[in-house]
Amino acid sequence: MADTALATPPETKMDPDRTMSAAAAATCDQIVDPAVYADQPKLDAAFAKLRAEDPLAWCEPENFRPFWAVTKHADIMEVSRQNKLFTNGEREMLSYKQAEEGVYAQFGQPHLLKTLVQLDDPLHFKLRHLTQEWFMPQNVKKREEGVRAIAKQFVDRMEDLGGECDFQQDVALHYPLRVIMQILGVPESDEPMMLKLTQEIFGAQDEDLNRNKKSLEDRDVEGGLASIQATLAEFFMYFTAITADRRANPRDDVSTVIANGMVDGEPIGQLEAMSYYIITAAAGHDTTSASTGGGVLAMLQDRDQLKKIMADPKGMSRTAVDEAIRWTTPVKHFMRTAQEDYELRGKTVKQGESLLLCYPSGNRDEDVFDEPFKFKVDRSPNKLISFGHGGHMCLGMHLARLEMQIIYEELFSRIKSFELDGDPTFIKANFVGGPKSIPVRYKF
Ligand code: HEM
Repeated sequence: MADTALATPPETKMDPDRTMSAAAAATCDQIVDPAVYADQPKLDAAFAKLRAEDPLAWCEPENFRPFWAVTKHADIMEVSRQNKLFTNGEREMLSYKQAEEGVYAQFGQPHLLKTLVQLDDPLHFKLRHLTQEWFMPQNVKKREEGVRAIAKQFVDRMEDLGGECDFQQDVALHYPLRVIMQILGVPESDEPMMLKLTQEIFGAQDEDLNRNKKSLEDRDVEGGLASIQATLAEFFMYFTAITADRRANPRDDVSTVIANGMVDGEPIGQLEAMSYYIITAAAGHDTTSASTGGGVLAMLQDRDQLKKIMADPKGMSRTAVDEAIRWTTPVKHFMRTAQEDYELRGKTVKQGESLLLCYPSGNRDEDVFDEPFKFKVDRSPNKLISFGHGGHMCLGMHLARLEMQIIYEELFSRIKSFELDGDPTFIKANFVGGPKSIPVRYKF
């Protein structure tokens, strides 16, 4: 631990002339509020206002360091593709100002981990390169049979539940978890623990998912930081044992690749390895379960779309999957920091300022999508921005698409009737989220 008791995060540079536009003042507290991400119409309205009135908006929300909200699809692409100019290392995601200060004071740096999304090249490239091959389309395709077997088990399970279930909790949550845990080589018996730990990280803002089950209003920053550290300590213990095992007994799994990874001729560092397991475990399932469930929910809410996919599950599943990933946008943002002054949308983003890449907004951009607020199971082309773009573009996107395609094929080719059986609920999270509960009734 660094002796940096007085260290604070670098202030995002503030031009004394910077003022928020009326649109930014009206929306900036909403687009950082975890609860608004559980209220899609409210979120859509806030982003629609920004796209129309101030598409690159200077935002100074309460309790957060300021940033530019990037809400147009083209601008998100333009920033994301320039990884030297717009970096991840300083501030890769939204965090409360006090929490950032807490981490700095304790560790003298912005992060507790060194995951791919927190790194820049050259280290980012070297680490990403270790597992990239595993996640390429041709290698993901080789897993199709195994993934299909898991999908069938989950559809069987739904049938066994006898006509009523919570699609999110009983199917969508566990299916991608099983797939990514098999890829990592984590046994099925450890899945509940992995689910709990990954949800404690991604769901830290939701009262049902964080470690202490506290609402945002009841949580103090120190308590929040301590609970994240406790979660990480459990992860570290688990994956330290995995590293030792895979070094002694290599297997055909991604943990073996991470444990034995070499960077610049040296074995991968402990923190880098731990961070790698954690991001693969966490990013590998919550995202995909959100889009799997959210896509099904959208079809249940629009019977014409449901009819279309039920009439031709094999033919329709590819476009349905991309539309589900656009519609739900499970990852709500990432951030970048400008390394030089940059002209965008007629404004100057100054060196040192940060930018919020608003993926849900890019995915509803009227300049890119025809009827962006309609879920179309056969949408084509579909320029979804849900997986990001550039050097950090999602490592697992081919796997996510394959998993979803297979479960949609299996589900919609077997189910005979399918309807909502109550109101769905949603996770309160401004980073990764989606449905929490989707009560359904059905017949096979
Ligand atoms: C990065 C979205 C599934 C692993 C990302 C990024 C996004 C994203 C937005 C950052 C892109 C950027 O900064 O430009 C999604 C969505 C998913 C999904 C929407 C499902 C629908 C997965 C899966 C894995 C995974 C199944 C399993 C391995 C990763 C990793 C990164 C990443 C390791 C970091 C890549 C880097 O920084 O180089 N994902 N993801 N994701 N994703 Fe995914």
